[in-house]
Formats: sequence, C-alpha cells, structure tokens
Amino acid sequence: MPMRNLGLAFVAVLLLALPAAAAAAADMTALLVVLPYGVFVLFLGGFVYRVVRWAKAPVPFRIPTTCGQEKSLPWIHNNPVENPAGPLGAIGRMAGEVFLFRSLFRNSQTEIVDGRPVYGSAKWLWFFGLMFHVSLLIAALRHLRFFTEPVVPLATGLSALDGFLEIGVPALYISDVTLLAGLVFLFLRRVVLPQVRYISLFSDYFALLLIATIAATGLLMRHFFPVDLNAVKTLAMGWVSFAPSAPADASILFYLHLCFVFVLIAWLPWSKLSHMAGIFLSPTRNQINNSRSRRHVNPWNAPVKVHTYAEYEDEFRDKMKAAGLPVEKE
Ligand code: HEM
Repeated sequence: MPMRNLGLAFVAVLLLALPAAAAAAADMTALLVVLPYGVFVLFLGGFVYRVVRWAKAPVPFRIPTTCGQEKSLPWIHNNPVENPAGPLGAIGRMAGEVFLFRSLFRNSQTEIVDGRPVYGSAKWLWFFGLMFHVSLLIAALRHLRFFTEPVVPLATGLSALDGFLEIGVPALYISDVTLLAGLVFLFLRRVVLPQVRYISLFSDYFALLLIATIAATGLLMRHFFPVDLNAVKTLAMGWVSFAPSAPADASILFYLHLCFVFVLIAWLPWSKLSHMAGIFLSPTRNQINNSRSRRHVNPWNAPVKVHTYAEYEDEFRDKMKAAGLPVEKE
C-alpha cells in the first residue's frame, strides 16, 4: 500500500506535465498571462480560510508540552523560553522553532538492544530538514530578481553569496545543491525506513516529487537549456504591475517549471505544506503558560449544580448525629 502511494504520486506528477507540454506545443502563451492570478486567489483564499478556521478553534486552557519548569514560587527556578510565562519567552520559543526547527532537534530514535529499548539522539532529520527548507527559501527569494526593478539588494546579495564558488557558467548555486541533497534525503527516508514508509501517504510523496521537479526544471533551464531571461523578467514584471502581456514564445521547460510551481502554490494551503502558516497558530508553541498564576476557566462549561460538604452536613446533621457520625459543626 505505501509503495502504491509512491507510484500514484509519480503518475500524478507525470500527468501534470501533460497539459504543460500540450500548452507549449500549441504555443498558448496567453495562459501564462491569466493563470497566475487564479493561482494567487486560490493561495490567498485558501490560507485565509484555513487560518480563520484554526483561529476559531476553542483553546480554553494552556497546553504546556514543555521540557522546562513553569513559573511559580520565586525560589523555584523557571525556564522562560521552554515554558514561557510572558509573551517575550513565547516569541523566543516560536523564533527557535521557525528558524532553527528547535523541537525537531530533540528528535530521538528507539532501538531494541539485548531486548531492552535504548533511546539515542537522531539529528539527521533535523539537519537535512533545515537544510532543505533554508535552500528552498533562498531559491525562491533569488527569484525576486524577476519580480522587482531595480532588483532588490536581497536578491542580488543572495545570488552573489550563493554563487561565490563560481563553479561553471552560469555559476552553480550552493543552495541548489543543498536543496537537491535535502530532497534526496527526505525522499530516501520515506522509501527506505520501513516505519516511515508505512505511514507515508500519497500527499507526502507528491509534495516531495513536485518540489523536485520544480528544482530539476529550474536547474535544466539555468545550466543546460537556457531560456530568454529578459522575456521572463518582462512577463514577471507584467504580473506584479497588473499589466501582463504574453511573451512571443516560451520553452517547454519554462512551461513545465511554471506548471509545477502553479500547482504547488495553489495546493499549498489545502495540503500539509500549510504548516508554514499553521506553526504560528500552534497552541503548544505560541501559548504562554501561566496556569499557576491565573485560573483558566472554560467559558463554555455548562453550569453544574454542586452540593458542598457544608450543605450536605446542614441537610443531614441530625441524622448523622443520631447515627453517631462525627460532624464539623455542632
Ligand atoms: C515555488 C516557487 C519556485 C521555486 C521553488 C523555483 C525553483 C527554481 C530553482 C531551484 C531553479 C534553479 C536555478 C535557481 O535556483 O535559480 C529555478 C530556476 C528558474 N526559475 Fe524558478 N522557481 C519558482 C518559481 C518560479 C517562477 C514563478 C518563475 C517565473 C518567473 C520562475 C522562473 C525560473 C527561471 C527562468 C529559472 C532559470 C533561471 C536562470 O536561468 O538563471 N521560477 N527555479
């Protein structure tokens, strides 16, 4: 079953290439003018919908899934980042998560040695996961050179830094190599490890393959089948200035690259890749934990009629005394 998911994901990516190839064959450059706006609407609408739904989910209590001491008595040392009692600590914890994948750093693995479970550290997923995400971000940010005029210094700076090894012409970007290395690791992890293979879904493979095809078509354009970068820039500037015009022609690789990019962007909010927004709404990461200094009462609690011991004794005092039972009030 898990290998079927992998096969289906391969087929899905291949099927996606068909309309792009057909559009290239029929020279349908007009598609490149209108499609981005539809994709953008799906992306933005999807994220607004998901964020509003997440924000509406009731979270009446604190959910401190932490490894540190909560703030309580002054002589008990608390851990302000691990278990924050104020917003600054929560911002620090969130920043650690977003920029350094802090909780993934604590990833561990269990092995049975001589019949007993042994827990060891497992940093590879953290290392390659972080490498993959940073590389993808850098590659996407470098594309700002197509969308800004004059080109923003962030894009020029990143390109210069990224290509400083000056391997080949045009220079090979380090982030492209690390992106591919990250993708290969994440893919092999799902295929080789039986436990991970067992829980891998179609969408897990599809996301990896989609990003891999985007990177592959991009690299092919950059290093083997160059495209007219001036025409790409004119097209991209047309999109952002809401005055797009169809290019005279476009290579099939460019159609394929854009087709996969559009699918990725439109699918993002509806897929598990929406964790890029979800992380900020995750109660275990964004909540402060002040359960010891403030009483949190669930506002949706139905009123419960209680009968205290004092009331009970008032009601049955005579009978209790008659039966020889001790009472608190005579
Ligand atoms: C999710 C968004 C995107 C990702 C992850 C992505 C990824 C990549 C990668 C990895 C490369 C290889 C070379 C490099 O890193 O610069 C590349 C090249 C390229 N991409 Fe994209 N891309 C994206 C969106 C786009 C868009 C929207 C356009 C259209 C303007 C585009 C046009 C190009 C072109 C023309 C190249 C060749 C660049 C060159 O020859 O130097 N890409 N892309």
